Amino acid sequence: HDAVDVIRVKRDGGTLTDDQIDWVVDAYTRGVVADEQMSSLAMAILQRGMSREEIARWTAAMIATGERLDFSDLGKPTADKHSTGGVGDKITLPLAPLVAAYGVAVPQLSGRGLGHTGGTLDKLESIPGWQASLSNEQMHRQLRDVGAVICAAGSGLAPADKKLYALRDVTGTVEAIPLIATSIMSKKIAEGTGTLVLDVKVGSGAFMKDIEQARELARTMVELGTDAGVFTSALITDMSTPLGLTIGNGLEVTESVEVLAGGGPADVVELTIALAREMLAGAGVTGVDPAEALKDGRAMDAWRQMISAQGGDPDAVMPTAPHIEEVRAEADGVITRLDALGVGVAAWRLGAGRARKEDPVQASAGVTLHRTLGDTVSKGDVIMTLHTETEGRMPRGMAALTEACDGAGAVEISDGTEYSDG
Ligand code: URA
Repeated sequence: HDAVDVIRVKRDGGTLTDDQIDWVVDAYTRGVVADEQMSSLAMAILQRGMSREEIARWTAAMIATGERLDFSDLGKPTADKHSTGGVGDKITLPLAPLVAAYGVAVPQLSGRGLGHTGGTLDKLESIPGWQASLSNEQMHRQLRDVGAVICAAGSGLAPADKKLYALRDVTGTVEAIPLIATSIMSKKIAEGTGTLVLDVKVGSGAFMKDIEQARELARTMVELGTDAGVFTSALITDMSTPLGLTIGNGLEVTESVEVLAGGGPADVVELTIALAREMLAGAGVTGVDPAEALKDGRAMDAWRQMISAQGGDPDAVMPTAPHIEEVRAEADGVITRLDALGVGVAAWRLGAGRARKEDPVQASAGVTLHRTLGDTVSKGDVIMTLHTETEGRMPRGMAALTEACDGAGAVEISDGTEYSDG
């Protein structure tokens, strides 16, 4: 085989053979195909696309570069959820213990945040003592004894994806649907879950900015999972405004615990229950109302066990930031824009996120919302609170906030006259 021949086929709009796909993915992982060659192939895939057969083969080839987990000896069904990422998306935290409360094991391999989107592991690491890295044996034991585990994917799982994702990140080739779908699904299939529910986000704070793209990504991933024998479904959900009222690591843990205690913001509760219903149905558990385990404490019990099993203190109070600033409405009106990307960028700049993979994140940094989209406000009302551990990161006032949001304009208050003629 020759890498240049493979690149030429895709460059000219052709279809790669199974043999070519198997070879190029494996050879790249072993360092036989060079970064510049794979980069060129990724760009050709971005521009020319891939057939359903090519996508399935590429995924299988990525899985074959590493190990596959197997939970068939647990004696209970397994279900997992994957979100394509967003702002304030802490759903995994209440969802995993909620589903485990119904006897379904949840092997949730999660990641860290990069850019304006948060990462589940960063959030849980706000809890003192909590450990993200588990061996396969520890993961197995916890799934058997507790039923839910949220941990980092070990280096043995789809190593081709680790290398390829880092390359795509610096070569403008992240935004290719075949590459996103194969990247996500190779990890999820190798993880060995029986049921997978995908939460495909659409809107300013998401990867996919429009609904057509989100539908295509969802369809591609559901086909891939189904073809690989995983019971796969997808919800497409809004990410034009933040999910819940908190954005930032420790702040989101606190809000998740409120949901597990039967309270919390309605949008977070609603999405948690909708995803739980899908996961349970896929795992064969029907005729139950997941809202009940949030109300009666069973989900909270599972959460406490899950956190303790990984060394965390479930009674720890989340750290508070030393620097806090309130952002107030500058006029009377209605909040007509509360933009997910803008708020996400602000939380990131305050210290909740990282610019480079090796950067640390702040546990207490972020944004608390006091008002949401569509609320009526009076001049001087507090709309949001900003939190940071680094004084120099704090924007002061609305103009500074807009600047901190990269000009994205997080908040817009309208006096309503544009809409007065109905
Ligand atoms: N998440 C992934 O794991 N891979 C992608 O390519 C994009 C998002």
